[in-house]
Amino acid sequence: MKVLVVGSGGREYSIGLALQRDPAVEKIWFAPGNGATDELGENLSIKEHRELAAFAKEEGIDLTIVGPEAPLVEGIVDIFKEEGLTIFGPSAQAAQLEGSKIFMKNFLARHGIPTARYLETDSFEKASAFIDTLEAPIVVKADGLCAGKGVIIAPSREEAREAAQGMLSGESFGEAGSRIVVEEFLDGYELSVFAICDGKDYVVLPAAQDHKRLLNGDKGPNTGGMGAYAPTPLVNESIYRELDERVIRPTLEGMEKEGMPFTGVLFMGVMVVEGEPYILEYNVRFGDPECEVLMPLLKSPASELFYKAATGRLSEASIEFYDRYAVGVVMASKNYPYRSSEPAEIIIDEIHHEELARNSHISFAGVSRGEDGKLYATGGRVLVCVGLGESIREARDRAYMLVGQVHFAGKQCRTDIAYQALEA
Ligand code: AMP
Ligand code: GLY
Repeated sequence: MKVLVVGSGGREYSIGLALQRDPAVEKIWFAPGNGATDELGENLSIKEHRELAAFAKEEGIDLTIVGPEAPLVEGIVDIFKEEGLTIFGPSAQAAQLEGSKIFMKNFLARHGIPTARYLETDSFEKASAFIDTLEAPIVVKADGLCAGKGVIIAPSREEAREAAQGMLSGESFGEAGSRIVVEEFLDGYELSVFAICDGKDYVVLPAAQDHKRLLNGDKGPNTGGMGAYAPTPLVNESIYRELDERVIRPTLEGMEKEGMPFTGVLFMGVMVVEGEPYILEYNVRFGDPECEVLMPLLKSPASELFYKAATGRLSEASIEFYDRYAVGVVMASKNYPYRSSEPAEIIIDEIHHEELARNSHISFAGVSRGEDGKLYATGGRVLVCVGLGESIREARDRAYMLVGQVHFAGKQCRTDIAYQALEA
């Protein structure tokens, strides 16, 4: 099978790694990929979706997997399908579950799916009146995509009003903030749960936990994610059952009924409050760095999972996961997440410890290959050190042993990834 992976992050690299160990996969392309994906396959510089579809047709690519949300929201899946190509991901219409917070919240409300009480509006007066009905902290969200930055947790009503004003005036997020969602704050712990969906059927992946804040102890600014692990012991059978019955099924049935069956990754941002799961948000793609810890747990061939899902035949597949744990530690560049950093050469010590070598690996993200053939840290999140083990502790220790082997100027990482699980 010839497979094309769209995207350039650690997420796409880890999908590439899973495809590479699948004997059914002959060749992998990445569009655009990064400075390390060229070791797993071939990088393409084609940017335009139609041009990429033409390339896929010409090369006889059997399956395209889309990593990031932007091309999905732009309709890459629709374009590939018009050309008769097989592609894994939601249509532009279905991708609104991520592309518009208002669409998502209204969808949840229509289908009785548990979520925080909210108001959607483009009027500051209405937002302000609703804010008066809520206890602080209060959550204010821009409707559109803001690269993960459009959510403000305001510690007081006054600050919630300021956030709403900033968004509605277009000052904070431009057009994406011209409509907003104001909602109650849910106090609990967060999970990332992923379901691979084929429009009707689905496979739920082991639940993961992401660490969004820059610093240890969940302090500092929000980032794309500084580490993740799976499966998390913070989820039990009852939470899985609730998610299944009250969230995933109604979502797939609802999307089908509304004429936009959902194919792709349904990423549920879940807040567990007193043992009950509430949906904070949907994304329509894998989380990054969650994908980097989930792909190594996939025992079944990756091509089977994604191809069957893309062709509406998941019910024929029996997808298995290893009964193990994975922990991923993000190594970021010096000025992340504030601004870009000087390129820094990455040096990775040779790993002599055989057990470590077998049970750990790197998923490369913000890296470029220099003209000298060396790898340089050029992005914010540079790479993810992944450790695998029979327990979270063992996986975590291996991930951090690997971190110790990786060097670049200004590197930073959290030293407490998976702490909630280890305390549990
Ligand atoms: P979102 O992009 O909607 O997931 O929001 C980003 C982050 O803000 C989430 O991962 C949560 O940590 C936090 N968040 C969003 N909505 C709420 C809420 N209603 N209550 C508490 N925290 C929230
Ligand atoms: N790690 C969270 C995300 O990818 O949105």
